Amino acid sequence: MADENRIDKKSQQGEWSSRFAFILAATGSAVGLGNIWKFPYITGENGGGAFVLVYLLCVLLIGIPLMMAEIMLGRRSKENPVHTMELLTAEANADKNWHYLGWMGIAAGFLILSYYSVIAGWSTAYVFKAFFGSFSGASPSEVKALFDDFVASPMSLIFWHTVFMLATMIIVARGIEKGFEKSVGLLMPGLFALMILLVGYAMTTDGYFKGLDFLFKPDFSKLTADSVLVAMGQAFFSLSLGMGAIMCYGSYLPKDVSIAKASMIIAGADTVVALLAGIAIFPIVFSNGLEPNSGPGLVFETLPLAFGNMFGGWLFGVLFFIALVFAALSSSISLVEPAVAWLIENKGFSREKACLWSGLVAWVLGLGTVFSFNAWKNVKLFERNFFELIDYLTANLMLPIGGFCIAVFAGWIMKQEHSKEELDLPGEHLSFQVWKFLVSYIAPAAVFLVFLNVVGVL
Ligand code: PHE
Repeated sequence: MADENRIDKKSQQGEWSSRFAFILAATGSAVGLGNIWKFPYITGENGGGAFVLVYLLCVLLIGIPLMMAEIMLGRRSKENPVHTMELLTAEANADKNWHYLGWMGIAAGFLILSYYSVIAGWSTAYVFKAFFGSFSGASPSEVKALFDDFVASPMSLIFWHTVFMLATMIIVARGIEKGFEKSVGLLMPGLFALMILLVGYAMTTDGYFKGLDFLFKPDFSKLTADSVLVAMGQAFFSLSLGMGAIMCYGSYLPKDVSIAKASMIIAGADTVVALLAGIAIFPIVFSNGLEPNSGPGLVFETLPLAFGNMFGGWLFGVLFFIALVFAALSSSISLVEPAVAWLIENKGFSREKACLWSGLVAWVLGLGTVFSFNAWKNVKLFERNFFELIDYLTANLMLPIGGFCIAVFAGWIMKQEHSKEELDLPGEHLSFQVWKFLVSYIAPAAVFLVFLNVVGVL
């Protein structure tokens, strides 16, 4: 195929209406439960400051260069991730097996979506708990009991999981321009404002400085090989990297947008929201004598305390959980979009049919996570229950391996003239060379060394 054809063509799925729409959608994909639910609880489980530092380094040195690479690959081919890899390997005369990378991404997307929808379902249920005043004046033990009772009931978890999965599929079925842009733009700024409000509340608690110390004073004795892997995995997870979500969004990106600038804005916003969540939550943990390592329930056991005790807490609580559900929706649609685009482009499915099947598969898989919090709580393999296994497999293995391959592809396989042309970096030499160095050497080497470290070779 002639180069010019491919570069000028548009994706079959449409295009973003503006640069802003793309940044909004990609930020919507990045900012979600990963920032507000996952970042605080894994920071608590992994000892705080040193973990946060490793996380930030991973975002800077691996995350941003890799995000640029993913957007670049997607925009160059304008196709779903599997097809992107096929087209670009043909262009670079490389081995055909690279397209398995697209497949692994689609699989990771399904697996993540399966549990993501369950946790987003919790957030949806909490909108109603907030609305009916369940938090008002509640003590730490009451808030904990509320959460424990809730997750003990498989039927209610299945109900909310179903509600969330349906909402995701309805948005995806409406297609990129009509569905995505409107829903994503709606509540993101609201979530940001509410996070600032919660930080303001945290400042009034007597655990504020202890919380800040926990987050920002590194104690390297708490860092294990596994926690370095978890920090790296979280950088991939939080930035939506390593599985083709951002690649897919990149394929809907018009030619005249600066990939470097967009990546920095997206990664910056994502990191700020995660840190704000930490700054809001840990002071509440310490001022109420709670444990930072209480696991996936952390957000649901701490923030209701803030809403139950602050002025206007009823309203802010309802708004916060609504905003959280929207943030989760704008991420979940990007988890399934690669699969849906592939089903449409390669299997001739209609968008609706593609959504129906993808949603059904992810919904069934999600039942495993539902039962991990009740009936199958103690069913463990490698000391992990179903939810913990899927989380470990995706965030700590599949995403970093996917990211490693994408980095190698962008740095070593793709022709340099093509990456130069796509990135179109200003002052061409230095910034391009820095990107090329990070993506060719630092990112793959870092992933590789962290893996070696975990299996005990280093
Ligand atoms: N980045 C999203 C979050 O932090 C989750 C996600 C991961 C979305 C991978 C797409 C791809 O919630």
